[in-house]
Amino acid sequence: MSFTFIDLFAGIGGFHQAAKFFNGKCVFASEIDKYAQQAYFQNYHIRPEGDITQIPEQEIPKHDFLFAGFPCQPFSIIGQQKGFSDTRGTLFFDIARILKAQRPPYFILENVKQLSTHNGGKTLQTILRVLNELGYKTWHKVLNALNFGLPQKRERTIIVGTLKDQLDFKWPEKQALMKPLSQIIEPEVDKKFYASVEIQNKRKQKHKSQFDLAIWHENKSGNVTSYPYSCALRAGASYNYLLVNGERRLTPRETLRLQGFSENFKIVCSDYQTKKQTGNAVPVPMIQAVLEEVLNAKAEIERLQTAQNSAIIPSGVLPQANNRSNMQEISL
Ligand SMILES: C[S@@+](CC[C@H](N)C(=O)[O-])C[C@H]1O[C@@H](n2cnc3c(N)ncnc32)[C@H](O)[C@@H]1O
Repeated sequence: MSFTFIDLFAGIGGFHQAAKFFNGKCVFASEIDKYAQQAYFQNYHIRPEGDITQIPEQEIPKHDFLFAGFPCQPFSIIGQQKGFSDTRGTLFFDIARILKAQRPPYFILENVKQLSTHNGGKTLQTILRVLNELGYKTWHKVLNALNFGLPQKRERTIIVGTLKDQLDFKWPEKQALMKPLSQIIEPEVDKKFYASVEIQNKRKQKHKSQFDLAIWHENKSGNVTSYPYSCALRAGASYNYLLVNGERRLTPRETLRLQGFSENFKIVCSDYQTKKQTGNAVPVPMIQAVLEEVLNAKAEIERLQTAQNSAIIPSGVLPQANNRSNMQEISL
């Protein structure tokens, strides 16, 4: 089951890792940040093109899937009920113009959880309206990495789209088992990862953890909590906001593991850049689970079409996509 894909806002390739699992072939990637480009090239042997706003849509190769974890920009200019041109000036517009020109049969988009509620839901409604105007049927939902085996609470808005109206897409089921932190945390790490004794003491005065191994989280108002999983990794977070057992920062390998990247992923950038990259990345098993459902639904349609072509089943019995009202639900 092979397919081609393009990886927009590619970062370090969370979508790429998920697609590779199903033998997907990357035919184009775009990423503006030179360090993320280096990491992408060293890991996947594809050099991402730069700024997507400068790349004409006609120059992008044909593909089956468009993947894009587009940056969360202020969407204040959209939501005015106008549609395609209304999104001009946002990076979503670049996704839309590529979909319009290339018409890939499927896409998966990812953004922060807040996209679903921004501007009273109007931002997401504008995005969905534009996608629908372009001929795509869409499903959207907020998914949490914790439900896909990763010990990280990371909620993301996922939008799936298809040009094929009959696709019977279902959201993946929650996975029962979460990888324990003991499989994420490195037993011995360089002393540079340890917070100062002063910071460690301050945290421990404020908080007692009920877990032997936990990631401590300090929020903006100074409250400290700890769980046997991590709060969401963030690209621009303060240095010590997550500390293993209140003592040390996560290593680059640990942050990659928290996002579900393979152990073979080569770390080629500084600790600072890798922290930024992993904070921006999409959780691999979450996308893998969504992609698997799209591929299963696609295979089912193809199976039914083949059967219909060989007249095994009468025409008109291809399933129509379910209009499940719960598909729009935000379940956390
Ligand atoms: C939310 S991150 C996506 C990360 C990616 N999904 C991953 O798994 O690593 C958004 C990425 O878009 C990149 N970016 C921002 N503006 C861009 C542009 N105009 N053209 C190409 N890439 C851009 C950023 O550098 C960042 O790496």
